Amino acid sequence: MVNHLAIIMDGNGRWAEERGLTRSDGHKAGARQIGVAARAAIKAGIKYLTLYAFSTENWKRPKDEVAVLMGLISEFAKSELPNMMRDGVRLRTIGRTADLPLAARTALEFAIKQTEKNDTLTINIALSYGGRAEIVDAVNKIIAEKRTAPIDEKEFVNYLYAPDIPDPDLLIRTSGELRLSNFLLWELSYSELYVTNTYWPDFDENTLAEALASFGSRKRRFGGLNKK
Ligand code: IPE
Ligand code: IPE
Ligand code: MG
Repeated sequence: MVNHLAIIMDGNGRWAEERGLTRSDGHKAGARQIGVAARAAIKAGIKYLTLYAFSTENWKRPKDEVAVLMGLISEFAKSELPNMMRDGVRLRTIGRTADLPLAARTALEFAIKQTEKNDTLTINIALSYGGRAEIVDAVNKIIAEKRTAPIDEKEFVNYLYAPDIPDPDLLIRTSGELRLSNFLLWELSYSELYVTNTYWPDFDENTLAEALASFGSRKRRFGGLNKK
């Protein structure tokens, strides 16, 4: 049973290029697909959906492309809000979100507050997110507390961005790349991995069903023997 699904939403650019469209068109199509994925996740009984939308490294992209992505983040937070309220979706974010432009932060904060009490599905969007940044940010929080006592894994988790969210059961990466690209380095330690060649803008209920079927046939062992 997948309780927490994480997705690296990759391939917007290639999807657009294959259609003779601009990368911006690809990102627009990709942003629209988030709602489709959320509704498919709800149908599948998933409780947490963590989506990699913008990495700490994505700031290196051309200014215009970054601006388009930031615009789409604000637009998503505003236009999806009625659907999130209807479907019982709670919105959250992880990452160095203070780096986002004010308009995006404001729209996100509003949607986060409005959806705070929804509990059918939590959509956790990773924005200006890096797995290494998350670990370094945790270490710096510990330093700021002037803690001198040794720390164990269980306590360390409390300094990560979303300590109350359980680790992902399944990670899906779209568009075929076989790498993590700095996503959830701590949390993915024992997640099952599924890579599909489908580009993110084409991701739908069927792609999700294929990934879940694959997950269903895995034996998770967590280093032990036959632990379910
Ligand atoms: C994913 O699509 C969206 C972001 C990384 C923001 P890409 O823009 O990486 O698409 P490709 O990988 O170039 O096809
Ligand atoms: C990972 O995709 C980041 C997101 C999907 C937001 P990238 O397209 O940035 O990753 P690389 O550069 O191919 O590793
Ligand atoms: Mg990419």
